[in-house]
Amino acid sequence: MRYSPGMAIRKIAQIGHPVLRQVAREVTREELASPAIQQLIADLIETMHDADGAGLAAIQIYEPVRIAVIEVRNNPRYPYKPPIPLTVLVNPVLTPIGDELFDNYEGCLSVPNLRGLVKRHVHLRVQAWDRAGAPIDDVVHGLKAGTFQHEVDHLDGKVFVDRADPSTFTTWTEFDRHHRAAFVERVTALVARVGS
Ligand code: NI
Repeated sequence: MRYSPGMAIRKIAQIGHPVLRQVAREVTREELASPAIQQLIADLIETMHDADGAGLAAIQIYEPVRIAVIEVRNNPRYPYKPPIPLTVLVNPVLTPIGDELFDNYEGCLSVPNLRGLVKRHVHLRVQAWDRAGAPIDDVVHGLKAGTFQHEVDHLDGKVFVDRADPSTFTTWTEFDRHHRAAFVERVTALVARVGS
């Protein structure tokens, strides 16, 4: 997205701040059309880009409303992730399809220098509005499905560490040294099998 003077990089709440434990409220159609919410969406995107995030929920910039943005494009934090075009989710509802799970190594802009394995659904239906209020009704798979589940968890006051196996916690340096190669091999096979 091109820079425009109205956009702003916001501060990202860090784990321990109570806002991350709130349950975000739904946004009405009237609110979504308002300059304030459209500005919030622009700021979310700008902040996600600045922090090299794969996604960011409004609650992470201290706005407890049910809006999240997702984008993966040559991401230095997650170079193995397949690309996801910029997606704005308003009032998203996720419905697992089937019961297959996979182990996803996750990190979070609200949790400095930590990753951990989280069980996520492989197949997922995503229903939401986009930033213009148009309906989204999509099916996503694999790593992409993992990213959607991570972001929507934020809207319910959950952080990936709640769901992770604590014995798998790793700093980013130790992830690269000891876990990255096996994980990338495993998820590359998953993406080849199920798509994204
Ligand atoms: Ni996160």
